[in-house]
Amino acid sequence: MATDVVQSRVFNFSAGPAVLPVPVLERIRDEMLCLPGAGASILEISHRSKDYIAIQQGAKERLQRLLKLSDDYDVLFLQGGARLQFSMVPINLLRGRSQPAQYVITGSWGKKALEEARREGPVEVIFDGKESNYSELPQRDQLPIADDASYVHITSNETIQGIQFQQDWDTGTAPLVCDASSDFLCRPVDVTRYGLIYACAQKNAGPAGVTVVVIRRDLLDRSSADLPGYLNYRNHSENDSMWNTPPTFAVYALGLVAQWLEETIGGLDQMLELNRRKARLLYDVLDAFPNLYVGHARREDRSLMNVTFRLPNPDLESQFLEQAGQRGLTNLKGHRSVGGIRASIYNAMPIEGVQALSDFMQEFAQRNA
Ligand SMILES: Cc1ncc(COP(=O)(O)O)c(C=O)c1O
Repeated sequence: MATDVVQSRVFNFSAGPAVLPVPVLERIRDEMLCLPGAGASILEISHRSKDYIAIQQGAKERLQRLLKLSDDYDVLFLQGGARLQFSMVPINLLRGRSQPAQYVITGSWGKKALEEARREGPVEVIFDGKESNYSELPQRDQLPIADDASYVHITSNETIQGIQFQQDWDTGTAPLVCDASSDFLCRPVDVTRYGLIYACAQKNAGPAGVTVVVIRRDLLDRSSADLPGYLNYRNHSENDSMWNTPPTFAVYALGLVAQWLEETIGGLDQMLELNRRKARLLYDVLDAFPNLYVGHARREDRSLMNVTFRLPNPDLESQFLEQAGQRGLTNLKGHRSVGGIRASIYNAMPIEGVQALSDFMQEFAQRNA
């Protein structure tokens, strides 16, 4: 075994895979050799066993409660990450239709979703934030959303740029499709406004390996029987996400995160309150030292999950990262495509971690401003 391993936990501001709640990790550790009642590890049991079926059903029910889902919606546990959803959404909802899907491009991930959709059918870009370097979000009323659009696609939180829609849009009869990968479960949402919500788990909901799709059941009728089996939402829905072997460990861990959200945090209202307090600790420092810290996002579009900013020059940014690392504040480097600093403060990041970063930022500013 390596001897130079880090012995204590740092505050990990990684954008994903990302921090998980410590009680969840402890429970996984305790149950790893022998899942209670199963006599074997979660890694070893069949997805058809009664123990696993209960785990997957429990995870689904927790999501249904947290999101207040009616029977009009199904919850699917899929693989392939959010990027497979960039394709599966248009393959199921757009292929063969003449009405375009309307895409709202607010950052890097929305652009990638659009590229995949173009392969499947007609698309129309109704907003592209490139003029503001993806620092601003549009208002719903400014956009020409068509009632008969095949769907309208948004990215609720652009992880790289750090901008987040603050409200659930009403797109009328056009189904609203949302990539919620980096802010899933960070606040209550009015799911009735959406046709489909998808999120990879490895930011806010669990480990890498499972992607959650919440789909309004009437949209399942659009999936053509000719589609390759795995790519057809209807197959997954009709087989309760057991059309093929689901990512059993990831679903188990996601269920534990959902349990933590319900029982320890108290639900999504409380989660939102805590996320607001955490985000304020960092944005207040940006606002107090505007000559040193230049936030990327327009104030009203600031993300609760990914706080992005720059320092005046690369040298100061390197010093910032190095000194933060010495204090156990890690993975703060901005995405390679935009540079700067990014602090990802997902649900599971404890307020103590954000407070430690906020204190460090103030001290760094006093030394360098
Ligand atoms: C908003 C958003 N969408 C999509 C993705 C891609 O997810 P995956 O790597 O699971 O395909 C990411 C992050 O990696 C993301 O932040």
